[in-house]
Amino acid sequence: MNDGFSGISARMNSADTPKTAKGVFIKTYGCQMNVYDSERMRDVLRPLGYAPVDSPESADLVVLNTCHIREKATEKVYSELGQLKRMKEETGGKMTIAVAGCVAQAEGEEIMRRQPAVDLVLGPQAYHKLPEMIARASRAVGDRLETEFDTLEKFDALPKTREADGPTAFLSVQEGCDKFCTFCVVPYTRGAELSRPVDDITLEARALAAQGVREISLLGQNVNAFHGASPALTNEADWTLGQLVRHLAKIGGIERIRYTTSHPRDMDDDLIAAHGDTPQMQPFLHLPVQSGSDRILKAMNRGHTADEYREIIRKVRAAQPDIAMASDFIVGFPGESDEDFEATMQLVRDVNYAIAYSFKYSPRPGTPAAEMFGQVPEEVKDTRLQALQKLLREQQIAFNESRIGQSVPVLVTGRGRLEGQAHGRSPWMQAVHFNGPEELTGEIVDVKITGASLNSLSGELVRAREVAL
Ligand code: SAH
Ligand code: SF4
Ligand code: F3S
Repeated sequence: MNDGFSGISARMNSADTPKTAKGVFIKTYGCQMNVYDSERMRDVLRPLGYAPVDSPESADLVVLNTCHIREKATEKVYSELGQLKRMKEETGGKMTIAVAGCVAQAEGEEIMRRQPAVDLVLGPQAYHKLPEMIARASRAVGDRLETEFDTLEKFDALPKTREADGPTAFLSVQEGCDKFCTFCVVPYTRGAELSRPVDDITLEARALAAQGVREISLLGQNVNAFHGASPALTNEADWTLGQLVRHLAKIGGIERIRYTTSHPRDMDDDLIAAHGDTPQMQPFLHLPVQSGSDRILKAMNRGHTADEYREIIRKVRAAQPDIAMASDFIVGFPGESDEDFEATMQLVRDVNYAIAYSFKYSPRPGTPAAEMFGQVPEEVKDTRLQALQKLLREQQIAFNESRIGQSVPVLVTGRGRLEGQAHGRSPWMQAVHFNGPEELTGEIVDVKITGASLNSLSGELVRAREVAL
């Protein structure tokens, strides 16, 4: 599995390319919210005649959808822009270069200053303005920078139709964050927390189901803090994520529901209960804890202790014993001692994760932790990261191996790398390879697991199940 934060090119479908089409290439960095946003930008651009192309060289418009979470992620943008500038010169200046996403929001002015080849800069709440901005850039008039926050305006203005790309889809239900963890830029780049109305989400989910989507992943920076307006005419108070999940589970065709990323403080009892009583709810929970030391958790402003986190997991496992736990960790937060780090290792041993992402603390401009005393030397961060990742890898392999011999329901997502092979996803988010025809794509089949590695399972097709459509 990749770490979820590396550069990935947005998946694109070039089947519907109109003859007169202009080409667009979108490169996506960062989290799933950005992957979702790239798909929505593609939807916004389609009516303008933009069709996806496979490389920036053949594109009339290149969009970098950027991530600001760690220094490395941000620096990547500037080196990528250097290469694009050269490509633009080779095309005689015809290529339009746009920078979107969280670096655009945080450093819009600086991007324009450091790289004059950039034509437009737009923050995550401005994607619906993309057509207008492209028009302005082509006439070289008006503002080339849009970083206003108006999340609802964005969702209202985005096209109501979406084009599904395979049997799994992301669906953004909530944006922004008010938690202000002391290390994190997200509250500054994505703005205040805001939930979409349940009716809008239902409409989007139905449209996806009608196009053959079987699994939806509900997205938000703190998705379990969801509090969206209840359906019109119900006159109820805002709905919680638990209510939303139970509601979406009733849509015909939606067989699987996931949500990410959650915050321990918002893990309420109803959502936990849904893991036990809603069959569509998948047995996987990404609940980042960052550290196992109470002192560090406090300095991070996470708002809970390590034992409170253990208690949440105890409750989740009581509701769904076979759940795969996932987390994020930061090592080398300012002031982290050997004892603090050992507390993190102990927490990992206690919880036993199916998968986890771990990072060296990266000081971010404008965040409180960047100014704290006790910044940890790089070599210490390196040593701790290696020790933590070794333990996490062992747990991940053990988790995958524990499936050997079991018959597992796999949602088939497409053809595998080898001839005659198909691949899919287990309920626990593992990639599964097996011998089977590509035509099974979109179906849930039983696969008997015969092999496991760090990143995937392999097995044999038992039988195609009946899928209730
Ligand atoms: N909303 C999610 C996290 C979003 S950011 C949550 O609250 O858990 C994704 C991950 O990046 C975080 O969980 C954290 O582990 C990591 N991260 C964020 N800021 C970081 C920083 N300054 N240095 C290193 N890692 C960071
Ligand atoms: Fe960042 Fe904390 Fe908000 Fe997560 S909860 S996005 S880590 S501020
Ligand atoms: Fe990165 Fe922005 Fe997501 S900073 S992790 S792309 S919210």
